[in-house]
Amino acid sequence: MKDLNQQFAIPSAAQFLPGEGNLTKLEIRTTIAAADIYLHGAHVTHYQRRGEQPILWMSKRSWFDVSEPIRGGVPVIFPWFGPRKDGPKSPNHGFARLVSWEIESVKQANDGVVTVVLTFRTNEQTRLIWPYDAELRYTVVVGSTLVMSLEVRNTGQSAFRFEEALHTYFTVSDVRQISIRGLEGVTYFDKAPGASSLRVTQDGQPITIVSETDRVYMATRSRCVLEDPGSSRRTVIEKDGSDTTVVWNPWIAKAAAMPDFGNDEWTQMVCIETANVGDNAVELAPGATHLMRATLK
Ligand code: BG6
Repeated sequence: MKDLNQQFAIPSAAQFLPGEGNLTKLEIRTTIAAADIYLHGAHVTHYQRRGEQPILWMSKRSWFDVSEPIRGGVPVIFPWFGPRKDGPKSPNHGFARLVSWEIESVKQANDGVVTVVLTFRTNEQTRLIWPYDAELRYTVVVGSTLVMSLEVRNTGQSAFRFEEALHTYFTVSDVRQISIRGLEGVTYFDKAPGASSLRVTQDGQPITIVSETDRVYMATRSRCVLEDPGSSRRTVIEKDGSDTTVVWNPWIAKAAAMPDFGNDEWTQMVCIETANVGDNAVELAPGATHLMRATLK
């Protein structure tokens, strides 16, 4: 931590501290906004514009442990989404949220905006479950918007195909009162238990959440607008390099079944995930890079 601070801290704007569970976090506090980023998973757990309420939701029951993902904030999902479809027994949503990332740089511009670059290179451990070489570069820009860009570079000799997501948890006053615009007419895979049809096309109305919701909207580059009348807030999620959007709320039974999720917390969150999943997975040739970006306004 001392070395990190010596190399990267910015007086009165960015410093490394022991976070929850003694995991290292970078705390950013500027005149524009506040954010926290854990090196574990390159996980943004907090973002708040000055004078406003936090945008990201965090579970009070989250693990903060090197062997577990953090529940809430923005988990970085790579190189597969959900349970792995082939290959050896592997963690849900890939390994990127379970490994320790390195800091490449922390910089503050004249206007106060802080830009953090984190990197992760695949290694012997990851090769045991995913036999490819890649370098991930994750840039987080903390200003009056939060911009998160995940760059994947194929540093190996063979092409690979990967899935990814910036699995953003938004805090809401009551998920039963919110609506999400931007996915009207888009076809999605319904992963909620008991879904009557696996492939559904969204009608012309904004999405409302009335039961367990787990939908993978395919072939969409649209931005989404999250309306939360209970907190008089509208959040816009813009994206680049992403063809999939996932909308998730566990509702009552699934929330109760998750050890790192409070029984009543499902009312306070919704995930709108900027992603490339399934048919929208990315094929990357040796030496090629792919960039996916989510901007929260
Ligand atoms: C969502 C998936 O993205 O993440 C859900 O669509 C899943 O199916 C949820 O339950 C949470 O996953 P995890 O691994 O963080 O519990």
